Amino acid sequence: MNEAFSYLSEMEAEKGNLIKGLQLIQTREGYVSDDAIRAVAAYFGTPEAEVEGVLTFYAQFKRVKPGKYKISVCDGTACHIKGATQIRAWVQAELGIGDGQTTEDGLFSLQTVACLGCCSLAPVMSINGTVYGKLDRKSLSRILNEYKAKG
Ligand code: FES
Repeated sequence: MNEAFSYLSEMEAEKGNLIKGLQLIQTREGYVSDDAIRAVAAYFGTPEAEVEGVLTFYAQFKRVKPGKYKISVCDGTACHIKGATQIRAWVQAELGIGDGQTTEDGLFSLQTVACLGCCSLAPVMSINGTVYGKLDRKSLSRILNEYKAKG
């Protein structure tokens, strides 16, 4: 087995553990890569196509490596009313990525999420768990530029 995924041996190599194995990989790596699929298929004795089928069926699994900075744009009710769609469009335009994608330099990934629990600050996004509220075009650009500068 690919050494990178040797921690799979923490669980029994039974087909019934396939989903648990994939969850373990996602927890450790943040996503399930092609290499991970091969390792899981080999370890659980399952065809790769079947592993891919499981990944497609369960929306919880990510196939794209998350960025260093994970941007979550809230599209809960309060944020939606206050312009979440526009906020997401601006982020996409600034970074050149769509929802669920990662920039080529690996710096940013974008996802849309439901309520982040601070609706009074709508519209809201978080970057690696830090919440930014009352966003507008200007503050959004400033925040993204700060992260770009950090690299
Ligand atoms: S709806 Fe966005 S924080 Fe609650």
